[in-house]
Amino acid sequence: MNIKKSILLALILSISIHIYSEEGMYPLFMIDEGLHQRMQQMGLNLSLEELYSEGQPGLLDAIVSFGGYCTGSIISDKGLVLTNHHCGYGRIQSHSCVDNDYLFDGFWASDYSEELPNPGLYVSFVVSVEDVTQQIKEKLESDMTEDERNSKIREISAEIQNEATEDTHYNAQVRSFYDGNEFYLLVYETYNDVRLVGAPPSSIGKYGGDTDNWMWPRHTGDFALFRVYSSPEGMPAEYSPENIPLEPKHYLPVSINGVEENDFAMTVGYAGNTDRYLTSWGIDFRLEEVFPLRIDIRRKKLDIIEEAMAESNEVRIKYASKHAGIANYWKNFIGMSQALKRLNVANQKREIENNFQNWFSESPERQEKYGEVLSDFEKAYEGLKPTNNHYYNFIEAMWTGPDMLRFAYSFKDLSELLEDQSIEEEDIANRIERLSAQTERLFANYHKPVDMKLWEEMFELYYQKVPEEQHPEIFEVISKKYNNDFAKYAADIYKKSIFTEQSKVDELLDNPERRQIEKDPIYKAAVSIFENYQEISAHSEQYDQKLDKASRLFIKGLREMYPDSLFYPDANSTIRLSFGKVRGYQPADAVYYDYLTTLEGVMEKEDPDDHEFIVPERLKELYENKDYGKYGDDDVMFVNFLSINDITGGNSGSPVINGDGHVIGVAFDGNWEAMSGDILFEPELQRCINVDARYILFIIEKYANANHLIDEMTIIN
Ligand code: ARG
Repeated sequence: MNIKKSILLALILSISIHIYSEEGMYPLFMIDEGLHQRMQQMGLNLSLEELYSEGQPGLLDAIVSFGGYCTGSIISDKGLVLTNHHCGYGRIQSHSCVDNDYLFDGFWASDYSEELPNPGLYVSFVVSVEDVTQQIKEKLESDMTEDERNSKIREISAEIQNEATEDTHYNAQVRSFYDGNEFYLLVYETYNDVRLVGAPPSSIGKYGGDTDNWMWPRHTGDFALFRVYSSPEGMPAEYSPENIPLEPKHYLPVSINGVEENDFAMTVGYAGNTDRYLTSWGIDFRLEEVFPLRIDIRRKKLDIIEEAMAESNEVRIKYASKHAGIANYWKNFIGMSQALKRLNVANQKREIENNFQNWFSESPERQEKYGEVLSDFEKAYEGLKPTNNHYYNFIEAMWTGPDMLRFAYSFKDLSELLEDQSIEEEDIANRIERLSAQTERLFANYHKPVDMKLWEEMFELYYQKVPEEQHPEIFEVISKKYNNDFAKYAADIYKKSIFTEQSKVDELLDNPERRQIEKDPIYKAAVSIFENYQEISAHSEQYDQKLDKASRLFIKGLREMYPDSLFYPDANSTIRLSFGKVRGYQPADAVYYDYLTTLEGVMEKEDPDDHEFIVPERLKELYENKDYGKYGDDDVMFVNFLSINDITGGNSGSPVINGDGHVIGVAFDGNWEAMSGDILFEPELQRCINVDARYILFIIEKYANANHLIDEMTIIN
């Protein structure tokens, strides 16, 4: 390759691979002087030690994983946690009923005694991070199959985790970074008593609903407050009335000085999952084989659930969280498809792949290491196609379709234990205890007619979409006995099954009998579906493994190809820092979106006939009287703002922090035009959508009159 050509290539690559100053979700182990300097240049006023330094409390010690699926920050010396309304949604729902509807009305505890415990909810703090790549890699042989490699990694990881937590109350995880090229041990301290403190009504916390979701301009007060409790000695403890508010190592002050365009802004949070190294084949595969199918099935499920929710308040509350979860990614997949196509992301990836090809072709040694990577991607995706429909229809229509399917299947273990003569009574008792808890959780959010309708329509869809030669045996029964009338089939088995009635399941658990389980028509269908799934997916395993290996080598090669570039690893549900600026964007030709929205906009969107756009009376009153306390500015109340921060799902609830280390907002969403962001970061287009801290405090003080909560925070004015 001549010099001109390689300069050109380097240039193209610097567009697609080289990291823009605002791109990157950095794990703790990458936060060093170099990165710190770049942050300072952009406006950070904290020293590296104040930000993060292992062994002493820094800003990052105030950020928690919230339940393993969201992020929270500690904002008082009494363990107060700030997160999103949509992160607390399921918990708020769990405390709600028709007569006491906290989803609809909001909830505010007036003192500690009114704060509501949430069994199963936890927050975790990172205690330490350690590179264990060598320890793992020295046990791996180059001729291992992917299966052998993975089980070896699991085995050594378990040893490392055990050793790290022995004689401590910590929990630990060894996580793979860069798709299996590096491994880090993360040690956590986890608190299991986390109580609900405050939440606005959904008409504030979810204002705009699914219509506005994933979009800007936005006007949502998407925040909620929880509190971490410790034992009286300050240690993590299960819920107990004796527990006391946690005295944290560190907490964040909240600033009401507001934001201006180009201000420094960073987010810290538990970024869930990105695919920044996905290839063009991977993108084509998703666009053609995955998204259309998932979008369709989700829409069908939503239609069924929405119809029932509109008819009954009880169903509306019971299905609120399920509905939100399905709808969130239904819309995400649509936006992702559009953005991937519109921004022609696959083409940008093809350029990278061509460069990679040229690079490894330059030397026999590289050719030997990387020569098959690209063709392996192609082959793997080809190999996945014949079972792809089966796989995603199973995931969407069965695994996350009617609740009864997974529920009944979870009794399989018990049935097997009951048959096995050598099993101890105690094992059975343990299993029953787990199933009892599960039964209670299931029926708390279950409505028989909705679930039956889901069963009917999802089975019919599965029947039509899965290739006939891959059909499970249960379809023979449905054809012979019900003449493929899926409505009749569903109605019949929901009537006959013991799993559809809580009292009957409880009876079974009181007096478990294998025969009862095995002859149940819902159980039989579930087993048929799952066994068939296992059988079919065994065919695709080799291609999944090919994909894993190719991905690992691709990243390894790219890092070798650009030794001077800073490659951050894909999100993997570990804590990440990203930094950038407050900024608007241009969504389309001749259109510019301002970075800040106001209460004016909430009122503009008001529509009393649309449940997503109802403005609560009290908020209207405050608006009319311009009663904004110290949080408004010249009769204006701020609601949401935009920043260039590299975030993804799981970052929800991440604090947005200014150059002085103060919270200026809470991240809660991304924008429609750049929904391809999990695959390619677009600095000109991609924005992080945040609730303004001033709106949060205004709602707490002026809307909810919860001044005691304001008093326990440190407010910077
Ligand atoms: N799109 C947001 C996220 O995944 C969730 C927003 C929740 N709001 C809603 N209207 N569903 O982070």
